[in-house]
Amino acid sequence: MKQEDLFKKLTAHCKEYGYIFQSSEIYDGLSAVYDYGQYGAELKNNIRKYWWDAMVLLNDEIVGIDAAIFMHPAVWKASGHVDAFNDPLIDNKDSKKRYRADVLIEEHIEKLEEKISKEIAKAAKRFGENFDEKMFRQTNKRVLDTAEKIASIKRRYVDASDNGDLAEIRQIIIDCEIADPVSGSRNWTDVRQFNLMFDTKLGSVSEDASKIYLRPETAQGIFVNYMNVQKSGRMKLPFGIAQVGKAFRNEIVARQFIFRMREFEQMEMQYFIRPGDEQGWYEHWKEKRMRWHRALGFDESKFRFHDHDKLAHYAKAATDIEFAFPFGFKEVEGIHSRTDYDLSQHQKYCGRKLQYFDTELNKSYVPYVVETSIGLDRMFFTVIAASWVEEKIKKENGTEDERVVLRLPPALAPVKLAIFPLVKKDGLPEISARIRDELRFDFSCQYEEKDSIGRRYRRQDAIGTPFCITVDHQTKEDETVTIRYRDTMEQERVPVNALREIIGEKVNMKKLLQSL
Ligand code: GAP
Repeated sequence: MKQEDLFKKLTAHCKEYGYIFQSSEIYDGLSAVYDYGQYGAELKNNIRKYWWDAMVLLNDEIVGIDAAIFMHPAVWKASGHVDAFNDPLIDNKDSKKRYRADVLIEEHIEKLEEKISKEIAKAAKRFGENFDEKMFRQTNKRVLDTAEKIASIKRRYVDASDNGDLAEIRQIIIDCEIADPVSGSRNWTDVRQFNLMFDTKLGSVSEDASKIYLRPETAQGIFVNYMNVQKSGRMKLPFGIAQVGKAFRNEIVARQFIFRMREFEQMEMQYFIRPGDEQGWYEHWKEKRMRWHRALGFDESKFRFHDHDKLAHYAKAATDIEFAFPFGFKEVEGIHSRTDYDLSQHQKYCGRKLQYFDTELNKSYVPYVVETSIGLDRMFFTVIAASWVEEKIKKENGTEDERVVLRLPPALAPVKLAIFPLVKKDGLPEISARIRDELRFDFSCQYEEKDSIGRRYRRQDAIGTPFCITVDHQTKEDETVTIRYRDTMEQERVPVNALREIIGEKVNMKKLLQSL
């Protein structure tokens, strides 16, 4: 299937099955803002819990907070966001479309990288088992030329952004002959900086009102509370503060569904450490976060690290954990070594000491920070994209059928089990309702009696429900039911009183957390 088609199918699926709706859809929607539906909200809660428990529950030295979205405006001056939280934008004069200049360049580089991959795939086919990829990369002229082109664009781009040289960024676009993806035109405006923060007014009388910002990252709520948490919790370095909450960015390029939103949710953890220890902790968190992703059991080749060439204004080292979305490998999570940049800046701006007294070293210093920052919505998209499968199945009569199934990790699935009476009579609905009432304290259950059993199975497959229980006439005789497994579609007859254990063992978040 073409990746573009897959992307369309995923977005349509999310809407049809109550996962995600366009915000204010009855008014034709609001661009890059989305609402989570009845199943989406549950899945989001489960991902949030998986993250929160992996951070706060499993680590003695990590605590969680919940800071306000509105913060003192000086916070954003100190953090550098007022002056430096910009994207370079460029307009195409013919199509009147606006783009992020850095994204146009990045996408051009990706195309060149694809060209290399194709050369390698072609050669691998030609040479078969004797193919030595490393040697081929080092000797093939076409590959070497393309690799040099990529390196040169990257060098120019990093220099231009470090020096804030917008004319040079435009020149790279011209020199690379990058065309508007919509119109194919190369008629570009100058590049301008565009600050991504939303602002609003605090106060009811306009003359007295002061400008405040909707936070563009949750991290600053953690930095400004560093001292409060350290003192009230008597925390010793190294320790972490975790938080989940909304963030807002006035994104220029608002497309790709929930990948890039203007209102989104972040799950961030700031790990405060002794200066000098940052490389070790950076590696530690890189490895630990990748393990968190892999524990979900998705295809491992769909996750990779991507180290940053261009660092954010606060970072000393940074890497992304990327996932193979239908539009290519893209960032899901960032791991950043932020030095003492933020605390030092706040110390300077607020005029108070934000230091730690290290009893072992017998001295005070501003701690360094390693941050892990993941978008909850992006993780949600990752989980949906990695779980969605369209497959051919054989029916009992030998004919072929198709089904769409969300192979969600059972611990994340919004509905753990669906309970069906085989028919809507003979006391079967009452028995089904009784089983649901017994199990609803342990799992989120759904009762369904409409349509044929086959259609009910299909609907639950599409929602991603790992177990369906059917109550039939035999249940009345021996208190057994059939349990049908979503992924294998196998069915087995089990006693009603064994359901809690069978299902609990598979959907338990504990097992997932234990595997970390
Ligand atoms: N505190 C560091 C920070 O905010 P970031 O790389 O700008 O770093 C972290 O953002 C994560 O937040 C990203 O990896 C991504 O998952 C998510 N994110 C950022 N912008 C987003 C947007 N516009 N829509 C959805 N998620 C976004």
